[in-house]
Amino acid sequence: MRSWSFVAACGLVANVSAAPGYGSGRAVAVSATQPSTAKQPLEHFLSYSIEFSSFAQFAGNLSAPNTYSDNLLNNIAHYAGSKPLIRVGGNTQDLSLFNASQQQATIQYFSAANPDYPANQTFGPAFFESYQTWPGVRFSHGFNLAENSTEARAALLDSVPYACEALRGKLNGWELGNEPDLYPTVVNPIPPRGPDYSPAEYVAEWLNWTRAIHIQMQQACPDLATNASFKFFAPSLAGAAGLSAFTAEPVFEAGLNTDHDIGFISAHKYIAARGDLGLTLQGTLMNHTNNLRAVNDLLNISALIQAIPDKNLVPTAPFILGEGNSLARQGIGGVSNSFGAALWGLDYALSLVSHGIGRWHMHQGVNYRYQAWQPVETRNTTKGTKAPFYGNIAVSAFLGDLANAESRPFVVDLGLPNFDESAFASYVNGKLKKLIVINMDEYNATTSNVGYVDDYPRPVETYSFQLPRGYKSAQLQRLMANGSDAIAGVTFDGYSYASELDNGKPVRLSNVTIGERLRVGRNGKVVVKLPRSSAAILNFE
Ligand SMILES: *[C@@H]1O[C@H](CO)[C@@H](O)[C@H](O)[C@H]1NC(C)=O
Ligand SMILES: *[C@@H]1O[C@H](CO)[C@@H](O)[C@H](O)[C@H]1NC(C)=O
Ligand SMILES: *[C@@H]1O[C@H](CO)[C@@H](O)[C@H](O)[C@H]1NC(C)=O
Ligand SMILES: *[C@@H]1O[C@H](CO)[C@@H](O)[C@H](O)[C@H]1NC(C)=O
Ligand SMILES: *[C@@H]1O[C@H](CO)[C@@H](O)[C@H](O)[C@H]1NC(C)=O
Ligand SMILES: *[C@@H]1O[C@H](CO)[C@@H](O)[C@H](O)[C@H]1NC(C)=O
Ligand SMILES: *[C@@H]1O[C@H](CO)[C@@H](O)[C@H](O)[C@H]1NC(C)=O
Ligand SMILES: *[C@@H]1O[C@H](CO)[C@@H](O)[C@H](O)[C@H]1NC(C)=O
Ligand SMILES: *[C@@H]1O[C@H](CO)[C@@H](O)[C@H](O)[C@H]1NC(C)=O
Ligand SMILES: *[C@@H]1O[C@H](CO)[C@@H](O)[C@H](O)[C@H]1NC(C)=O
Ligand SMILES: *[C@@H]1O[C@H](CO)[C@@H](O)[C@H](O)[C@H]1NC(C)=O
Ligand SMILES: *[C@@H]1O[C@H](CO)[C@@H](O)[C@H](O)[C@H]1NC(C)=O
Repeated sequence: MRSWSFVAACGLVANVSAAPGYGSGRAVAVSATQPSTAKQPLEHFLSYSIEFSSFAQFAGNLSAPNTYSDNLLNNIAHYAGSKPLIRVGGNTQDLSLFNASQQQATIQYFSAANPDYPANQTFGPAFFESYQTWPGVRFSHGFNLAENSTEARAALLDSVPYACEALRGKLNGWELGNEPDLYPTVVNPIPPRGPDYSPAEYVAEWLNWTRAIHIQMQQACPDLATNASFKFFAPSLAGAAGLSAFTAEPVFEAGLNTDHDIGFISAHKYIAARGDLGLTLQGTLMNHTNNLRAVNDLLNISALIQAIPDKNLVPTAPFILGEGNSLARQGIGGVSNSFGAALWGLDYALSLVSHGIGRWHMHQGVNYRYQAWQPVETRNTTKGTKAPFYGNIAVSAFLGDLANAESRPFVVDLGLPNFDESAFASYVNGKLKKLIVINMDEYNATTSNVGYVDDYPRPVETYSFQLPRGYKSAQLQRLMANGSDAIAGVTFDGYSYASELDNGKPVRLSNVTIGERLRVGRNGKVVVKLPRSSAAILNFE
């Protein structure tokens, strides 16, 4: 058992019932007032990125809207105050060619080498119906930069009037090109650029073709061609820093910001990739230290951009995680779709927020093994709400209404000492509002736990917090499943969002305890017990 106590900033050390090996007397301070290091998320912190080739299935079209997906987005809005932003893009945005005469929304060609997404596709005007099916959602649309034949460039410009008409009134931005730092190396079926493709060459192309898009938009949608509206996600690098000189800093130094039309400095990041050696649920994902490493990589990218001396080269735009998820290459079944991955996503989200990255577009694709939900039935994957979605709900519940600037919290990482647990505090109007504790110590529900001949009962960990004066009680909301390896039966605060129950609308399950209330002791201590591999939010009253 691990027991941690927390002290107020005034320095009163709480008594700590520490397990052997855990520093007795070591305590993490929770300040009564908002610490200066606390960070505030942007509105729509929890947002999604949807693979370009999967968008029609996620959203449906006007005659068959995907209401199940819409219900799930509404579940986020219930807590977050507004629906997630949707970026439509990814690898397949650079493999897709528009054909204005095509009847079908998409025609896709798969290669034997990659069953996860098409090797290429053409899309017609009907594709843009998918932008009309989710009321209240704002989008970014990804244009193809990688394909540079005369036909591909003509198709790019042809698509602009359809795209701007579709996104009018619901525009969050544009994007031209996905992960151009990989153009010299990514094989599909051959790299789209030569091995020496440089940041400067990319910038020249990007400026030329964003200007060409702008000219089309001035004709088709002049209202969207204004400086205020015409904004891009960029540079959307994969960010294999250290492996290549193609990083964000030289891209901005080469003048990406020349036209001052960058709305979001977007970076991509995955924790690891399918195929990496030594990858485990516990060590790779259920690991707060590893999440902090990923967050630090992003912060370093941002810092290097901001350090460019000529400030004219640096956009005054937020730095966001524009595409990311747990395990690149579409995840690993049994790992990235598990309840452990839901806990990972919750911890990662709050690690991002508390260290200053205000938005995460969590990447999704049909049949992807890290998806939050599968929007349609396929022969490979059952339609349904997957474990990671519950982590998205939990982070939205913890952050609360971000649409209302007055209730938008500041979040601080309380710095628990073990790699497999974390706790965060939120402050609203300078006052402690909520705590969350995440235990990521792996507990298997379906297979024997290693080192034991038989299954053992799920251990319960005890966490104690020393609260500032004036707190009397807390309402508890738990993120729960039978174990970290569970891929079904996940609940948040007793609710299921399963597609098979009410098409993704919240359904209260009678077999899960809810409405727990914790009393704060007269000594200001509150004690919360967490079954291993679970999380709980303490909402102070
Ligand atoms: C575009 O679609 C039309 C109608 O299906 C088809 O005849 C034409 O060949 C397509 N063009 C290209 C370049 O694929
Ligand atoms: C709309 O979606 C339905 C269901 O997937 C499909 O049958 C129909 O062809 C689509 N319509 C268009 C115009 O793509
Ligand atoms: C699309 O992919 C298919 C399957 O790999 C391939 O045969 C075809 O040549 C590709 N078409 C284009 C235009 O790249
Ligand atoms: C779906 O399953 C079929 C049959 O097992 C397989 O050939 C195909 O590659 C799978 N597709 C995906 C996207 O996993
Ligand atoms: C397209 O990219 C290739 C690979 O970098 C390059 O050789 C070619 O000149 C480019 N074509 C055009 C029209 O720019
Ligand atoms: C720049 O864009 C124009 C279209 O506006 C195109 O004609 C020209 O070829 C492009 N130049 C390069 C180097 O791609
Ligand atoms: C719009 O942006 C362009 C490019 O940065 C700039 O030259 C122009 O002055 C701006 N126009 C207005 C009205 O601000
Ligand atoms: C957790 O992540 C850190 C940082 O990447 C790593 O050093 C450590 O080995 C990981 N823990 C386990 C148990 O794999
Ligand atoms: C990030 O920055 C920190 C502090 O400047 C530095 O110690 C660390 O090595 C950097 N990490 C990477 C991956 O660049
Ligand atoms: C849980 O099961 C997985 C897969 O069998 C195993 O690798 C892991 O070590 C187990 N975890 C524990 C804590 O026993
Ligand atoms: C969770 O455990 C309970 C009690 O053992 C069991 O009845 C239930 O089926 C399990 N749920 C899942 C999804 O495995
Ligand atoms: C609770 O009930 C749901 C729906 O019947 C079931 O899927 C789930 O496994 C149950 N959970 C537990 C912990 O028994």
